[in-house]
Amino acid sequence: MSGIIRKVGVCGAGGTMGAGIAIVTARAGFETVCYDLAQPALDAAAKQTAGFFGKSVDRGKMSAGERDAVLARMRATTSLDDLADCDLVIEAVFEDLKTKQQLFAALDPLCAKHTIFASNTSTLSITEIASQCGRQDRVVGMHFCLPAQLMKLIEMSPGMNTSRETFDTAWSFAEAAGQTPVRTQDKPGFILNALLVPFNNDVIRAVEAGVATPADIDAAIKTGLGYRMGPCELLDLIGLDTQLRLCEAFYPVTLDVRSSAPPLLRRMVAAGHLGRKTGRGFYTYDGNAMFGG
Ligand SMILES: NC(=O)c1ccc[n+]([C@@H]2O[C@H](COP(=O)([O-])OP(=O)(O)OC[C@H]3O[C@@H](n4cnc5c(N)ncnc54)[C@H](O)[C@@H]3O)[C@@H](O)[C@H]2O)c1
Repeated sequence: MSGIIRKVGVCGAGGTMGAGIAIVTARAGFETVCYDLAQPALDAAAKQTAGFFGKSVDRGKMSAGERDAVLARMRATTSLDDLADCDLVIEAVFEDLKTKQQLFAALDPLCAKHTIFASNTSTLSITEIASQCGRQDRVVGMHFCLPAQLMKLIEMSPGMNTSRETFDTAWSFAEAAGQTPVRTQDKPGFILNALLVPFNNDVIRAVEAGVATPADIDAAIKTGLGYRMGPCELLDLIGLDTQLRLCEAFYPVTLDVRSSAPPLLRRMVAAGHLGRKTGRGFYTYDGNAMFGG
């Protein structure tokens, strides 16, 4: 375990990213409090998590006893107060500046002085997220990659007021959790999303223009560029609603027209075609089991 960090809180733990991040921290030996506003989302995440670790046992990656110990380290709650004694709180709530600012402002008086707040934001400024809480020096960007339970990368970014000690402690934590941190500046989209959000929008516009079907676009990208997953498959995994929130956070600060939400994306979200999480996006799905195990 790293330095002072023993207990980790994950906010938005009922969501796509939060559920995966909680798996990473609990699997690495950290007590993990899984917080979300929505109990049904927490229940669904708990079911997916149990399924994920069940596959890990079936595949010989861990024993049944180890699985039980990991699950025992995870506790789900809808009460913010349960995060009070966490040493690190990682937020993976909706990609909305006010929502994230309000969450950290509410956590600030609850948590211990040493507690570090980390944001998993994909596109927003760490400095702006930190600006409304009383501990700007202890806020850091930790952008996990989808699916978090499988991907090792974390883009680590300091805000303008993040202390060196906070950044180093968070970096050591990332390594102790078995992840691979890379350092980026507090710039819109960091590394991955600065490149990916416009690209994924280009793909949606190509589908809308009838250039090719989602299946043929995915086949072309996978076969021609050697990607493991096609962009339409990836968008269904990311969540079309999350892609829309990314555009709405990203476009106003970049004014890059490729980052603005394509009309087809808006229609798919309005129709509830959010991807894997609703069983329908560019493709249709039975069930919503987590990747890997
Ligand atoms: N989906 C991706 O591919 C991906 C990848 C990397 C980072 N991210 C980032 O992770 C964050 C979450 O994205 P997601 O796709 O997991 O979203 P999601 O919609 O799947 O989940 C968000 C969860 O946050 C909960 N929530 C919302 N407001 C809350 C609050 N105030 N307190 C507690 N819980 C709250 C919701 O109930 C929901 O369960 C965003 O910042 C997003 O940019 C997403």
